[in-house]
Amino acid sequence: MKTDVLLGLQWGDEGKGKIVDFLTPYYDVIARFQGGPNAGHSLEFGNEKHVLHTIPSGIFHPGKTNVIGSGVVIDPVIFEKEITDLEKGGLSSTKNLLISKKAHIILPTHRMLDAASETAKGNTKIGSTLKGIGPTYMDKTGRNGIRMGDILLPDFIEKYEFLKNKHFSLISLFNYTIDDSFIKAEENWFKSIEYLKKFEQINSEYYINNSIKENKKVLAEGAQGTLLDIDFGSYPYVTSSNTICAGACIGLGIPPVKIGKVHGIFKAYCTRVGSGPFPTELHDETGDKIREKGHEFGATTGRPRRCGWMDLVALKYSVMLNGVTNLIMTKADILTGFDQIKICTAYKTGTETHDYFPFEISPELKPVYKTFPGWKEDITHLDNYEDLPDELKNYIRFIEEETEVPVSIVSVGPKRKETIFRD
Ligand code: GDP
Ligand code: IMO
Ligand code: MG
Repeated sequence: MKTDVLLGLQWGDEGKGKIVDFLTPYYDVIARFQGGPNAGHSLEFGNEKHVLHTIPSGIFHPGKTNVIGSGVVIDPVIFEKEITDLEKGGLSSTKNLLISKKAHIILPTHRMLDAASETAKGNTKIGSTLKGIGPTYMDKTGRNGIRMGDILLPDFIEKYEFLKNKHFSLISLFNYTIDDSFIKAEENWFKSIEYLKKFEQINSEYYINNSIKENKKVLAEGAQGTLLDIDFGSYPYVTSSNTICAGACIGLGIPPVKIGKVHGIFKAYCTRVGSGPFPTELHDETGDKIREKGHEFGATTGRPRRCGWMDLVALKYSVMLNGVTNLIMTKADILTGFDQIKICTAYKTGTETHDYFPFEISPELKPVYKTFPGWKEDITHLDNYEDLPDELKNYIRFIEEETEVPVSIVSVGPKRKETIFRD
């Protein structure tokens, strides 16, 4: 059985958590393949609302296995809090959660380096979530990192001290002060390392490949979005991992020929949190209206998300990079009540009009829009695609024609049941 992948096609926060939770009944194993606590995946069912950062979004379904893959970076303190919050919310067992021995660990000094680097950048800062993601992946590729498996080895403290001291030297280069709060942060980190030891560590590449052999259905869950990919996103305003489909192969050890469906998820409009270019960003009342209606505030940092119209140039780029087999549109309900809905079909720079995602998105680049009539009907209670307003179906049809990929799911509300499966 091939492994399916679900990933974001925009700048993150497309609704991956909700849809993975919705799709989990169709799978046996849910495996996160990259990112770390920079992610905030929200899901809602009944009267419960949860935000997951490191834990895969299949965790609420008993009998399903959730794997934190080797491509993920783990902050022990955030992880412990996530688990205790889940337990407070009534989730009785986390026995169905397995962690790769090769997943890298975020140190307290990684977070400090993240903050120091951002401060040093001034106006050109990335707008990082400050969770230590960049410095941890830098240590991974620099071959200095500490992995989950290391916490059980006798030389763990030695490795930790070596890396911490290296970080102290780097931090001093940034003229960044390490204050007394570090001692407490380090103490908490070690406590959480002890907590982490309770969880089963696995060779996730063997686990996933054996699952594939045994005909189990695996869903690889992405974090962030394609336009934040370290290689193909709006560099340098990106995250530090490969968020695209190939990242699932790297982050879980899956051979490319074993990839099946690629579920590409996008919002009916666009949002971005943090710095960086955003061609269709709206700095007007419409942008504010989308933010308010869509509750567009970061699930991890609480920052207001920048909002704008759908960008088809960027979407087609993402579809190409990921080999998307089916599209999932979320937050269609948020566009209800707008007189007109716009979609960017090309970019114009000077006199040139083009439909590719350029090397550099300059401030002169202007979106070329096609305008669609809006709809007024409340759609959140609908469960049949045919019952959606014609205007929304036209909008979806246009996206399908342009991307040449079918929209298989339309999400019309944050709750698990507010989802229209088209098949
Ligand atoms: P993720 O990071 O991709 O998992 O997305 P986030 O959880 O950060 O942000 C998506 C937000 O939209 C969350 O608050 C979800 O509960 C919410 N959401 C997801 N799908 C829908 C939808 O179709 N309609 C509405 N109104 N909200 C949605
Ligand atoms: P989910 O999985 C939206 C953004 C940050 C910043 C840039 C780099 O919830 O979709 P980092 O902390 O990785 O160094 O930040 O990437 N970013 C996200 N934006 N959703 C996310 O995750 C994000 N994870 C990182 O805002 O601009
Ligand atoms: Mg999110």
